[in-house]
Amino acid sequence: MEDNPGELWIDQGRDLFYQKRGPRNASLEQCDFGMGPGKLEGAAVRLPRYFADTDRVEDLESRLLTCMTRLQGFDRGQLIREAISAPASRGSDIEALALYVTSRSNGMKVNVTLNHQKEYDMYKAGEYLFYRRSGQTDFGCVQCHGEPDKRIRLQDLVHMTSKAGAQEVASTWPAYRGSHYVVRTMQWRLNDCVWQMRLPDLKYATDYSIALTTYLNRQGNDAVMQVPGFKR
Ligand code: HEC
Repeated sequence: MEDNPGELWIDQGRDLFYQKRGPRNASLEQCDFGMGPGKLEGAAVRLPRYFADTDRVEDLESRLLTCMTRLQGFDRGQLIREAISAPASRGSDIEALALYVTSRSNGMKVNVTLNHQKEYDMYKAGEYLFYRRSGQTDFGCVQCHGEPDKRIRLQDLVHMTSKAGAQEVASTWPAYRGSHYVVRTMQWRLNDCVWQMRLPDLKYATDYSIALTTYLNRQGNDAVMQVPGFKR
């Protein structure tokens, strides 16, 4: 993991976090990721989680959307359109911010709790979706990620029904993707797998993705967060 170019995005994300930006000319210092306004240490390892102010379970990226619209006044549709950057670009604001916020939990253990009913429901929905076969190819996540030592072409597929596999997922995103020269987030990763399954495009930060992330991260509890990951 040494010399991971993704490290550069951490600095970019820190700058974006503290700069006064958007129509309301505000920083993100009042954003509450679950530990209190502006408290980033240990916040990412608890996500997704329930937030009373939106009455929703939110993952990191949907929480960023909430804060960037409510505190900074950015347009939600515009943020979503720009959230996933083009390969070999400078990356999007959300990609850099997601990495910066997650990096503040490096060295801490993933600890997704399901104490709130909506957190439990999201987890169960994610579990259901992980095993559900759907679409024209009748694919389920479990077919590619439910056994050890599988691969597509030369790519090893993470075995996510094992503890170690789920932990790898929960502790390495956002990650620098070598073949794209940018940092990628979990929303991007899920969208790419949904595309591989030939399902309709995943709408950014919708419950389908939050459910799957809740399921996978919870399965990965106790992994030690270490971002940016480094992916092919
Ligand atoms: C057709 C096979 C296939 C299906 C079905 C599939 N994936 Fe994937 N998945 C892949 C491939 C290929 C990769 C990337 C491997 C690489 O590039 O090294 C991947 C990578 C991932 C990763 C990142 C693993 C890591 O490196 O940390 C996650 C998370 C993931 N998939 C989740 C899912 C989920 C959730 C579903 C169901 C919605 C799903 N996948 C369905 C093929 C699939």
